[in-house]
Parts: sequence; structure tokens; C-alpha cells
Amino acid sequence: MTQANFPAFRPRRRRNSSGLLALTRETRLSVDQLVYPLFIRPKDTFRKEIGSMPGQFQLGYADAEKLVAEAVKLGVRSFLLFGIPDHKDAEGSFAWDTEGVIPTILRRLRHSFGSEILLITDECFCEYTSHGHCGIIQNEGGRVILDNDKTLSNLAKQCVVHAQAGADIVAPSGMLDGMVTGIRSGLDLAGLEHIPILSYSAKYASAFYGPFRDAAESPPQFGDRTSYQMDPANRLEALTEVAQDIAQGADFVMVKPALAYLDIIREVKNASTVPVAAYNVSGEYAMLKAAAQNGWIDEKRAILETLGSIHRAGADILITYHALEAAPWIKNA
Ligand code: PBG
Repeated sequence: MTQANFPAFRPRRRRNSSGLLALTRETRLSVDQLVYPLFIRPKDTFRKEIGSMPGQFQLGYADAEKLVAEAVKLGVRSFLLFGIPDHKDAEGSFAWDTEGVIPTILRRLRHSFGSEILLITDECFCEYTSHGHCGIIQNEGGRVILDNDKTLSNLAKQCVVHAQAGADIVAPSGMLDGMVTGIRSGLDLAGLEHIPILSYSAKYASAFYGPFRDAAESPPQFGDRTSYQMDPANRLEALTEVAQDIAQGADFVMVKPALAYLDIIREVKNASTVPVAAYNVSGEYAMLKAAAQNGWIDEKRAILETLGSIHRAGADILITYHALEAAPWIKNA
């Protein structure tokens, strides 16, 4: 050492105690940011663990109410609802049935919990169509192309029915062009101008949705979703999608999946003036659970590091299957 003060700056000085670490921590998770997805079946009592998502369940109405009560005790009060209907058809018409699975659970949860909870509905048709695609199919054979504009009017109907049944936020996930405009005008015409839209703006055609398709029983029966979901190789396209959605009046935008797309979350955050959500999807959950169950990683640390990275990348809102297990850890951090 030639100089008494070499090196002048020692970043490690700020890591010398847990007090210093806590004082200088740049990002913090809060339970308020978490959204917990629920898979609902049109039955009263029903609870079945999803094989590829250990710790996650398909739930009947009464069992969902019980789980929501537990979540509220943990401080988690935002939920994203997926329905698994008993009937499917080519258009997915049970999606806008006022007595369908989602309107029913919305009314029940609203009745039991009032404004203590926030209910977000996934607005898509893949759970409701016999072919498992996210709208009306335009062609027969070959590459699957959705009839964008015909599907849009069904989407607006679905959102209106859900908002009337008690949804606080509608979240379209089908990657249709013009979906925010279509839904906004549908809601406004129905006197639902106070209902915000959380658009799945940049949703990639991802392998990480595998376990979800088990959970929601919505795998495509043929073809894939690459003609409507985004190519994982693209970055600028995500910014275009987000800009379009904001221009159409989206109140929140989303990037999905989260972990393979942390760069996109950051760029979307930098480019957006509305809150940004990220969806920590089923495959991301399944990988972590599988490694933890094998004793290959420290589960608690891995979960907190994962959620922390999504927040640090720029997500204000975290949709995650880890919400319930992580809530006490976050609260007591
Ligand atoms: C479509 C939808 C999907 C997910 C959320 N909404 C599946 C898909 O696009 O195939 C995936 C969520 C997850 O993997 O956790 N309704």
C-alpha cells in the first residue's frame, strides 16, 4: 500500500452491520404490492392441488372464500381470478354468462369481504373455448389466426359482466389489437367508467406458462399462440405494445413472464407513467418449488430474492403464486 487512504472509497464500509444494510437498502418489498392468483371451479366445496404447482389449488366457491380469509389475515388483499368452466364451446360464450363461474365467485367474495379485498379478473377465452385458443379462430388448418375484431366484442361483453358482478379491475390477457379501446368503450357505455383496465400489454409466447395450462385446463388443442403472443426475442415491440395500451387508456400495464424478461420490465418502467405489473408465472413458480423440494436451494431466500429482483427491475405490482408464503417474511423483514 503506497497511500494511507488507499482505496479512498470502500463500498464495504456500508455492509458492516445489519443496521447499515437496512438503512441503505435501495428497494423493499411490501405485502401491498402482491396479487395472488386463484383458480376457481363452479362447485361449492372443492379443493384439488395442482400437480405441477405444489401448494396451489383449484378451488370451489366456499374453499376460495376460506383461502381469501386466510390471505387477508396475512395482509394479502388483491386477487387475480381465473375460472375453469364446466362447459366450453368454439367462441367461449360461457365467459360472459352472468351465472358463470367468475360472476358467481365475484358476488360471493364481494358479499363476504366488501371493499376489504381487491378483485382483478383475467379476461380471456382460452379457458372457455373448446380449442383452447384465446378467442374466435378465423381459419381452419395451418397456422392459428384469431379473428381479432370479432373477439374484441366478446371481450368487452365479458368485462362488462365481470365488472357488474363486482370486479374492481379487469385484466385482458389475450393480446388482441385494440383490446383496451374495445373494453374501455364497452365499460363506459355500460356506465362502468370507474373500472380500471390492467392490460397484459407485453405478454410473450412463453414456455413458462406450462403448469398454468394444467391449472386452468386451457392448453391449446392444436397449434400454438405465436400469432398473438409476442416473440421472446423482441424488445422494442414490447415498448410499442405498452405505448399503444397507454394511449388507448390502460390504467396499468403488465409484462409477462417476469424472470426471463427483467430487462423488459425495466424498460417498460422507464417508459411508462402508469403503474407497471409483472406476472411471476406458473413455470417460474414450479422451477423454484421443484428445486426447493429436492433440497437444492434455500426456498425462503430464493423466493425473496426472486420477488425482490422483479421489484428492483421496475415492477410496482407483483402477481405471484408465492404471495401467501412470502407475506409473513416480507412483513417481518
Ligand atoms: C391466458 C393466461 C395465461 C396465463 C395467464 N393468463 C396462459 C396463456 O397465455 O397460455 C399464464 C399464467 C401463468 O403461467 O402463471 N388466459
